[in-house]
Amino acid sequence: MNQNITIFKDPETLADRVCDRLMELIADSFNAHFHLAISGGSTPNFLFSALARKFPDSPLWQKTHFWWVDERMVPSDNPDSNFGTTFRLLFSKIAIPEKNIHRIRGEEQPSAESVHYSCQIRENLTFHSGWPVFDLILLGMGEDGHTASIFPNQMELLQSVNISETAHHPLTGQLRVTLTGPVLNHAAHIWFLVTGAGKARRLAEIFAHSQMTELLPAAQINPASGELRWFADEQAAALLS
Ligand code: 6PG
Repeated sequence: MNQNITIFKDPETLADRVCDRLMELIADSFNAHFHLAISGGSTPNFLFSALARKFPDSPLWQKTHFWWVDERMVPSDNPDSNFGTTFRLLFSKIAIPEKNIHRIRGEEQPSAESVHYSCQIRENLTFHSGWPVFDLILLGMGEDGHTASIFPNQMELLQSVNISETAHHPLTGQLRVTLTGPVLNHAAHIWFLVTGAGKARRLAEIFAHSQMTELLPAAQINPASGELRWFADEQAAALLS
């Protein structure tokens, strides 16, 4: 497990730094297109707000393509929609071409949409070792150690032969479409953004390489050749030795 972690006072400070580092990464990329996959949940909202506040008119949005790590299979006007939240906090405030936004269509039938989304990725991304390569994937971690929509009771998604799969939230049963483990692990850069006291125990288990980590999807993210970085606030990092 890569031990590269940076700890910040609070989510706002973390988001401000990640925002600047993200724009630097996009600017430094020699590729015509920068393919970024973002996660849902609450932590990324701090980043979306920082990006909209600091870089509303950046020319870098012309080369930046937004994809989703996962999506809740609900219409985009549903408060649970990851795309809907990102549109409200970010896309509605920055100069990004609509063609650069590749949402998972939550209103569609999940298994059909998973196939459609995989085809979109195939058509737009370069491949290495048989897997699409995202320039950067932003991941979160749930209190149960899940990441993307790969939950502890669905660990087989870490070894899927598919680019994306359907999944379901173990408590609510909510249907999801998620990128799979091999796609996550083939990214050029993977950044975990982890905030809140509720994550402290799991984060400590992961960084202590405890036996529990075999059951935690977030602990199984080890990029084949890319960079893995962790960004945490003090609450989430409170139990790190
Ligand atoms: C989702 C996310 C999910 C999220 C974690 C952490 O759609 O819910 O992809 O994997 O990253 O649940 O969420 P927080 O950042 O809100 O803690």
